[in-house]
Amino acid sequence: MATKPTKATITFDNSDKTVELPVLSGSLGNDVIDIRTLGKHGYYTYDPGFLSTASCNSEITYINGEKGHLFHRGYPIEGLAENCDFLEVAHLLIKGELPNAQQQADYTQKIRRHTMLHDQMDNVFRGFRRDAHPMAVMVSVVGAMAAFYPEHNDVNDPKLRDVAAIRLLAKVPTIAAWSYKFTIGQPFIYPQNKLNYAENFLHMMFATPCEEYTVNPVLSKAFERILILHADHEQNASTSTVRLVGSSGANPFACIAAGIASLWGPAHGGANEATLKMLDEIGDVSRIDEYIKRAKDKTDSFRLMGFGHRVYRNMDPRAAIMRETCHEVLNELGLHGDPMFKLAMKLEKIALEDEYFVDRKLYPNVDFYSGIVMRAMGIPNSMFTAIFAMARTAGWISQWSEMISDSSNKIGRPRQLYKGEDRREIVPIDKR
Ligand code: SDX
Repeated sequence: MATKPTKATITFDNSDKTVELPVLSGSLGNDVIDIRTLGKHGYYTYDPGFLSTASCNSEITYINGEKGHLFHRGYPIEGLAENCDFLEVAHLLIKGELPNAQQQADYTQKIRRHTMLHDQMDNVFRGFRRDAHPMAVMVSVVGAMAAFYPEHNDVNDPKLRDVAAIRLLAKVPTIAAWSYKFTIGQPFIYPQNKLNYAENFLHMMFATPCEEYTVNPVLSKAFERILILHADHEQNASTSTVRLVGSSGANPFACIAAGIASLWGPAHGGANEATLKMLDEIGDVSRIDEYIKRAKDKTDSFRLMGFGHRVYRNMDPRAAIMRETCHEVLNELGLHGDPMFKLAMKLEKIALEDEYFVDRKLYPNVDFYSGIVMRAMGIPNSMFTAIFAMARTAGWISQWSEMISDSSNKIGRPRQLYKGEDRREIVPIDKR
């Protein structure tokens, strides 16, 4: 087998200086040039948006954007979506292995015993106006968990880290559902320990104290798949945020709240909500061409929400599975004829054939289809990103735990290319 480079040498024009840097190999994917000593030679690298920067080493998730591969601890996402439930995937991400039947039963039981919130947390919800966005409520209530469980400020105790992981996995669905109930003025619905993870959330979202609510099994299975497909995704913006906040030793609730805040942006986790807003704005197939034109216009900030991805230059494997789930749900609910869904399918078809999108490998991403599925299930737009955050909590916890237990972990502190003023003296105000 051809030997791979183990060193990279940087040479400079107008100088006889050379810098030698080690090349490190992982188990899959690109090798990396270890630039940690570059500062000593008087240089930094420059990579806004971290297009070509590895911020850490990790064993959790591997993405091959060219081939459209997504593995969690080596298992392809297709197999996990088909054969596992969300808590199995959460166990895999956080503990490194799929659970056996006994481990799964114990894990599920532990999580069920932590789904209730401290009774005084109600007050945090009630501090908001009724029209607050559920993500604003979630960021606050998850962050407020630090005030109710101060023992987790000790991030170096592995047992406390395990308990924090259970508390977050168990309580974030309750917080998400209650963030919604509060905004529609309905009473909070308590978790039901006889229900599975997806059923419990849908029950807390849609049940009322006035009548029995039975979750449609096709919808709870589709919802479980949405959670699995959104569980983790390497070092995306929100996960990198969680790692950076955690690198200072902040408690896990502050880290996850920071991840929720980052995910909220329309270029990231807010894309599913933005996709449905865009479809509502387009309104009719006759207006698709106008919006495709705008998406191509560099002077127009409009982007085709739900299309494109920083890493995937092939179809996002999650989108392919989500597309299948989308059609299952539309069939179950008899919605294929619904104008909005017909519009979405037409937009998908045009974008997949349009050379601007084809040349730039801008495929529909997971958010394009997950928004459509959630709209079909009667979940309001404003809850789409909250549900994404609920799923990604498993990934954020696994990445945070991996970072904290890495003894070489340092506080994250990037440098910069300074382009401001050189030193100058202050002129007294009466002379300015
Ligand atoms: C998620 O990182 C992750 O892993 C994220 C995520 C996860 O699971 O955590 O996968 C979840 O965030 C999925 C992405 C959801 N976002 C959207 O659907 C919003 C719409 N997408 C775009 O904003 C954009 O595609 C990004 C933000 C997703 C990616 O942006 P990049 O990598 O910076 O892409 P780019 O701007 O370099 O695009 C390259 C070209 C540009 O045109 P040119 O300058 O080459 O002419 O493609 C164009 C862009 O203008 N382009 C688009 C477009 N996305 C990119 N043009 C129109 N519509 C789009 N959606």
